[in-house]
Amino acid sequence: MADQTQKPELFELNNGTIQVLLSNLGCTIISLVVPDKDGKLADVVLGLDSLDLYQEGLSPYFGCIVGRVANRIKDGKFTLDGQEYSLSINRPPNSLHGGHQGFDKKLWEASNYIRGENASITFKYRSADGEEGYPGAVSVTATYTLTSSTTMRLDMEAIPENKATIINLAQHTYWNLGGHSSGNILNHSIQLWANHFTPVDENTVPTGEIVPVKDTPFDFTAEKTIGSSINEVGMGYDHNYVLDCGDEKSGLKHVAKVKEPSSGRVLDLWSNAPGVQFYTGNYVKDVVGKERAVYGKHAGLCLETQGFPNAVNQPNFPSVVVQPGGKYQHTMLFEFSVE
Ligand SMILES: *[C@@H]1O[C@H](CO)[C@@H](O)[C@H](O)[C@H]1NC(C)=O
Ligand SMILES: *[C@@H]1O[C@H](CO)[C@@H](O)[C@H](O)[C@H]1NC(C)=O
Repeated sequence: MADQTQKPELFELNNGTIQVLLSNLGCTIISLVVPDKDGKLADVVLGLDSLDLYQEGLSPYFGCIVGRVANRIKDGKFTLDGQEYSLSINRPPNSLHGGHQGFDKKLWEASNYIRGENASITFKYRSADGEEGYPGAVSVTATYTLTSSTTMRLDMEAIPENKATIINLAQHTYWNLGGHSSGNILNHSIQLWANHFTPVDENTVPTGEIVPVKDTPFDFTAEKTIGSSINEVGMGYDHNYVLDCGDEKSGLKHVAKVKEPSSGRVLDLWSNAPGVQFYTGNYVKDVVGKERAVYGKHAGLCLETQGFPNAVNQPNFPSVVVQPGGKYQHTMLFEFSVE
């Protein structure tokens, strides 16, 4: 297990087309460079200029893996096997993304670092029984692999040691396919393979309803510009979509297709998760990022595939409980192309 007092490190996966810089601090994607339609390279993820700045807590979850449970748990409370648990309330009144020191703030142990054509790295972390209030110890691994010249894959696994627990990991990259410093993402178009979404209360926790997107500003079943109806949804999109209508490919469902018109860059995302939190960077404000770029509201968009938020308190949502002897498994496939 990684010593939490050590310095975080950087690792590069580079196959000549995709160049990804990763850190074992939170399994974070620090930068990801891909060509546009004219072959021009740009870094298409938001991030900070040094690992120290991440450790000082200045990153609004840029690029990291969040857990043990992503998203909000209402009032940080739940009951499992007859016992009530209270989690760290780091975003009052709720617990968000694993608490004060979630998986994004931990140093993971790096292993199996392979460079070249099929570059890959595995990060490991052991979360102790009671960490941030969660029951039971869990061993977690996350492997990033460049599986083809234009594809990156992320495989996340977690195994409870001897007690049932709740597990729901998410990758929290903020994408801007025009380049991280190119302004806001309102001119990107997106298609989401979701006929339903889960509306939220005033604290951004799902009410428990599963509602059709049809005839609402939440409908992205056909390609649509993100900015076209964002003003009808308050601060912007920060909602869980139910992935119920995507094509399947080797066990993964089509989640989203994102396109930036001037660069022609396209990102297709595939996953086996039941939902995706579509977040339009609503709370980003004056963050000094890489190369001193200043990121404002909507500077990036997140597509956090995951189980439904607050699922542990919503019996009608797919369960996020993992029993001892069981395994949590979550894959994401990021395909880059140009149009
Ligand atoms: C990378 O993977 C491909 C497909 O599995 C294989 O054909 C190729 O030999 C691998 N390259 C290296 C350098 O291992
Ligand atoms: C948005 O994209 C369209 C289509 O490529 C383009 O004509 C327009 O200038 C873009 N607007 C902004 C604000 O970038």
